[in-house]
Amino acid sequence: MVGESLKGIEDQVVKLREKINYHNHKYHTLDSPEIKDSEFDALFEELKSLEARNPNLITDDSPTQRMGSIPLESFSQVRHERPMLSLDNAFTEKDLEDFENRVRKNISGNSFPTFVGEPKIDGVAVSLIYQEGRLSRAATRGDGLIGEDITKNVRTIGTVPLALLGSDFPLTIEIRGEIYIPIPEFENMNLALRKLGKKEFANPRNAAAGSLRQLDPSETAKRPLKFFAYSADYQDQNEMPSEHSKVLEDLDHWGVRTNPLRKILTGSSACSVYYDRLALERPELTYEIDGVVFKVNSLSLQKKMGFLSRAPRWAIAKKFPAEEAVTYIQAVKFQVGRTGALTPVAQLEPIKVGGVTIRNASLHNMDEVRRLRIRIGDAVLVQRAGDVIPKVKKRIIGQSKAQTQEIELPLKCPVCGGNIIRDSGLVVARCLSGWNCTAQKKERIRHFSSRLAMDIRGLGNKIISQLVDENHVVRISDLYSLDHKTLSCLDRLGSKSATNILLALEKSKMTTFSRFIFALGIPDVGESTAKELCLFFGNLENLAKANEEALLQVPDVGMVIASNVRQFFDHQDNFDVVMELLDLGVTWDEEISREYKPLEGQVIVITGTLENYSRQELKEKLELLGATVSGSVSKGTSMVIVGESPGSKLKRARDLGVKIFSEIDLKDFLEEYRV
Ligand code: IVH
Repeated sequence: MVGESLKGIEDQVVKLREKINYHNHKYHTLDSPEIKDSEFDALFEELKSLEARNPNLITDDSPTQRMGSIPLESFSQVRHERPMLSLDNAFTEKDLEDFENRVRKNISGNSFPTFVGEPKIDGVAVSLIYQEGRLSRAATRGDGLIGEDITKNVRTIGTVPLALLGSDFPLTIEIRGEIYIPIPEFENMNLALRKLGKKEFANPRNAAAGSLRQLDPSETAKRPLKFFAYSADYQDQNEMPSEHSKVLEDLDHWGVRTNPLRKILTGSSACSVYYDRLALERPELTYEIDGVVFKVNSLSLQKKMGFLSRAPRWAIAKKFPAEEAVTYIQAVKFQVGRTGALTPVAQLEPIKVGGVTIRNASLHNMDEVRRLRIRIGDAVLVQRAGDVIPKVKKRIIGQSKAQTQEIELPLKCPVCGGNIIRDSGLVVARCLSGWNCTAQKKERIRHFSSRLAMDIRGLGNKIISQLVDENHVVRISDLYSLDHKTLSCLDRLGSKSATNILLALEKSKMTTFSRFIFALGIPDVGESTAKELCLFFGNLENLAKANEEALLQVPDVGMVIASNVRQFFDHQDNFDVVMELLDLGVTWDEEISREYKPLEGQVIVITGTLENYSRQELKEKLELLGATVSGSVSKGTSMVIVGESPGSKLKRARDLGVKIFSEIDLKDFLEEYRV
């Protein structure tokens, strides 16, 4: 019968998928294939042809779908069920002992706690959700609360199972881990980019992040991404094992790749030994690790210890020191920054540091060049630390090339050819072309739209570059006059992305006073100085007309900043741009000053032991913002701030339905108002 034969085909498809998933796990996760590649290919082809003849049987999690599906217009945002946190760092053995002591305070008796030591993989954190054993969603960490949906891209990664093995997995499980690119594959990727004359990735982590952010999943499918899981949360908490190490064993059992170098350790001295061992093994590993993570093994103890700020109290990371190597300086190029400052960058004879080839290293400024007493042709010690740009640490005396050459500031701007001004000591040089120098223009737009400034999402470096090169943005205010047609005509920018950028531009118009001031890019006015200026002057008019004497009254503002701010507003062009931005709709509604009392009329009660402040200190800070601090909870209480081991006040607050905040929530709030 037709029905039966269809059922027969479906069974065949299901069996083939199970077989393929099994062998995929053997190959990718366990590195021990049981069958030849050709046999695997035959199974795959068989499934493909069955699916081609019966397209209704194709499912998202079929192994045939790993190759990548239709490109996306943009990534949608997803909220994490539980925030994705970061880790606190231990720098010394003492820090590790302190960590152990904090853990011991939470256990009875005199026993040493058990930890799991794991390599800290230097990749990109992801959250994977499996429902009924099938991968249903993959997301980036994002800001910890909201990430991006990268399911289609993650489906292309061989080491991420599309379906869990066996049948004893939880109905819903969230698995977290790290996606990375192995070092040899990273080197090959860069080699290919170099041959094409394209910009290379700085390190394997950036390469992994860039690969995951491809809108076209078939692009991601070409990248050599791999996955290690490091934690899981079973939706039904009753099903969770009692220990973290058992969770990892469960994951192994379900075919999820975990790191084999993990180890159960008792006491902080065992942790130190493990750290030293991994530091020795590190150069031999095929993937980058930047340290070791120690986690309390007992999950009930983890729960008891909880979280502090953005990191759990039951885990700590001990980072490895930066890696070093010796090479030669072949040349020095100068980069032009946002304010026109020229920064020397050493072009190195390529050298492997920690498995990664480096070609450039920052020299910061000419003072640094003098301090290091280096010349082109010198042998130097270079250092590489995780994600930061490699640094030249020192000159190796007696190993220079036969011919060396002094490093000199250029006479003209290397980007626009314009005049530059050099100080008498020939330490600092600045291109004077300002907006007329494309390098400065691009950097200023980049700064203006950055997260802490106007936060214009989607306006990436490539887009900014094109907008400037094709004269669509001549003044910064031109950003707000861009239209859909212009944006959608840019290289590789679809109609939906163009719309998203326009929406982001619109959204960014409603900003805050201090973000706007920071966005203007006044030399030396960083985010915190911008906040101080705004708090002090309260509004734009007052700030723009303040003389240097008044500016010097602002905390943290010295002669240089005072003069920079004055010069900025004295410059007609700058003033005009500010006015244009306001005309185009940029606005903010707060006028905060020291007189501003955001907590006016609020009655606050503090309970429990505080980590960051003394009771009195916190009371004063809250009062400064207008709050009344009271000793007892009543119906009239506006909020309760809860520290460690809170007393009966917390219970009473809960009973009365009074708002409850942790010390951490409060810390962010107080920092925002700089009290
Ligand atoms: S546990 C609640 N284990 O390091 C803390 N993180 O600084 C959860 N990372 O973004 C993290 N290897 O992506 C943990 N074995 C490991 C890790 C690891 C790398 C990353 C993680 C996180 C960052 C924290």
